[in-house]
Amino acid sequence: NEDVIIMAIESSCDETSVAIVKNGKHVLSNIISSQIDLHKKFGGVVPEIASRKHIENIDPVISEALEEADMTIKDVTAVAVTYGPGLVGALLVGLAEAKAIAFAAKKPLIGVHHIEGHISANYIEGDFKPPFVCMVVSGGHTHLVHVRDYGKYEIMGKTRDDAAGEAFDKVARSIGLGYPGGPKIDKISKEGNEDAIEFPRSYLENGSYDFSFSGVKSAVLNYINQCKMKEQEINVPDIAASFQKSVVEVIVNKTIKAAKELKLDKIALAGGVAANSKLREEMKKACEKEGITLHYPSLVYCTDNAAMIGVAGYYEYINGVRHNMDLNAIPNLKL
Ligand code: KG4
Ligand code: ZN
Repeated sequence: NEDVIIMAIESSCDETSVAIVKNGKHVLSNIISSQIDLHKKFGGVVPEIASRKHIENIDPVISEALEEADMTIKDVTAVAVTYGPGLVGALLVGLAEAKAIAFAAKKPLIGVHHIEGHISANYIEGDFKPPFVCMVVSGGHTHLVHVRDYGKYEIMGKTRDDAAGEAFDKVARSIGLGYPGGPKIDKISKEGNEDAIEFPRSYLENGSYDFSFSGVKSAVLNYINQCKMKEQEINVPDIAASFQKSVVEVIVNKTIKAAKELKLDKIALAGGVAANSKLREEMKKACEKEGITLHYPSLVYCTDNAAMIGVAGYYEYINGVRHNMDLNAIPNLKL
């Protein structure tokens, strides 16, 4: 009955983050050093720049996380680290650091799946427990997951092309909103008419829980090109709002259908796109109508952060998961 203190490291994309988490629930510190400003001028994350920046950031971020939690490495029970999926060079920085600390301080090493981290962000606030259906929507992933228990997942569907966040980012770029596009589309949509343009909704075959967002993305591009050809005004808020509505509609309908089919009365959102205000609002309405409880993490726990890795790492730890020093980064790691 001693406290389990996890030091968690996350470096799979463009955030260097270190957290100290107690008993899979209490976030004692969660330091996030974002590289967004560095990648902005390139319109997306440049992997080589990300790796180099992680190397510069990781030590100060670790010190800050320990300091804020008022701890030293001696107080830590185990070191958890994201080992995939993600950018291989970026992952390797966090992984090498985690191994070095675990080895030097003689602490167990626990590799965590990035998506499992996103899902586990739902355990930090409130009292939300499995089983539930989790819609994981981030920049790299769109997975509809049946969470049977802690650490027990079944993937019901996923995207066949672009991830939801990727579609947001690409559409934002095409209408001149810049990177990262998701939050910008969210914001500017509030000034637009979401029924102005009818963009396609892709439901795929009957009964499929898979997603496809490349169609709606192309439809936006075509629409813009047509406007230019006809010398029509391009109404950015209307395009953003109409695009957002079509994406959100498909996500909400498929998630609700999955919960009903599994006879589960709980739904969670996870990943960066779970920060989207329209998605939260529409999912909330649909859940209320069906008598389903909806849970989603605060904004800071939706986008990449180490606290969620610390929570997932806690459940791996109590389930007896331990990794060796030969643990490698796996860019396309499966859940
Ligand atoms: O989970 P995350 O931080 O990184 C990945 O693991 O991919 O997600 C980042 C993605 C980006 O595509 C970003 O545009 C999107 O989440 N995003 C949003 C919002 N905030 C972040 N998309 C829509 N609306 C938002 N408010
Ligand atoms: Zn992520």
